[in-house]
Amino acid sequence: MAQNILFVCLGNICRSPAAEGVFRALCPEVATDSAGTASYHVGSPPYGPMKAAAKARGFDLSDLRARQFSRQDFDRFDLIIGMDGDNLGDIEAQRPKGATTPVKLFTDYAPGQGADHVPDPYYTRDFEGCLDLIEAAAAGLTKALRNSSAG
Ligand code: 4NP
Repeated sequence: MAQNILFVCLGNICRSPAAEGVFRALCPEVATDSAGTASYHVGSPPYGPMKAAAKARGFDLSDLRARQFSRQDFDRFDLIIGMDGDNLGDIEAQRPKGATTPVKLFTDYAPGQGADHVPDPYYTRDFEGCLDLIEAAAAGLTKALRNSSAG
């Protein structure tokens, strides 16, 4: 079972902190962090509308602060999960030689949702749709991890 999971998006103020906040509530036995491929918002709390929408569903993101993804994260985490194909490309471009840490799309864990990425609500403004998808993927990831450790 993966012990340390890193969620990654572009800014680390909308999708990845929401993913971390939802997943840690569902699967508290796994350590989590989140990061952005860009540095724009380093040190900032999650974006207000995302924080409020998550809070309304019972997920508190207020302790989270943005940081930038770095190549050292390949050593620190057992699994790295990006929100869209750009995130995966930016993460893979920093993979150190020999690093075997898997990098997956979060939507891989929510196959029934018909989404091949988590759209960025900073631009779409669809915070509820984003959280619906994140909740489904977090549940799918939790199930996958618990099944694999039961074996
Ligand atoms: P996120 O959304 O990647 O889900 O955190 C974004 C937030 C801010 C910006 C881009 C994406 N930005 O360019 O400021």
